[in-house]
Amino acid sequence: MVLGILGSGSGSNMQAILDAIDSGSLDARIALVLSDQPDAFILERARKRGIETGLIDCRGFKTRFPDEAQLETAERLRAAGVELVCLAGFLRLVKRPLLDAFPRRILNIHPSLLPAFPGLESWKQALAAGVPETGCTVHFVDEGMDTGPVILQEAVPVLPDDSAESLHARIQLAEHRLYPAAIARVAAGF
Ligand code: GRF
Repeated sequence: MVLGILGSGSGSNMQAILDAIDSGSLDARIALVLSDQPDAFILERARKRGIETGLIDCRGFKTRFPDEAQLETAERLRAAGVELVCLAGFLRLVKRPLLDAFPRRILNIHPSLLPAFPGLESWKQALAAGVPETGCTVHFVDEGMDTGPVILQEAVPVLPDDSAESLHARIQLAEHRLYPAAIARVAAGF
């Protein structure tokens, strides 16, 4: 399974995928890592491993993912032989141009038990709602925000003395188990 990763931040989920590949629990290879943020640590992590990296040119838009940029991204992923695209902390909404190029082949990881708490900073939403548990979800990406079919979920307890930081950290530990497992499940169905 040849993977392409899109990320905007630290890339700890990409690292977890790499670790799963190294340990033999995930039969895959990361061929290309793309980011919309030139200084994102995910690029640094990928370079260290000798993985090809690239920058997505969003034409100066702060949050939009313009169609031209999506088409360019699709071309680069295809040229690298990517079969499955994994969003790992990628902060722009993927739309038709890229979805059409990889139908049901784009995954995302989200820090809540979807459909609860879509959108940004879901762990803060969970704390504010006072729920006893939250978690993380890996799902196929569709045109909505955090709405596509769920592949796997893992529940995480919310503890009485949790801060936003402590809860987020606990969710991230679960994410690092869940993403490689979800990729393996999707790969098995190919
Ligand atoms: C994760 O919490 C993920 O759920 C969300 O963005 C964060 C990315 O973290 N979509 P990292 O860049 O993988 O460390």
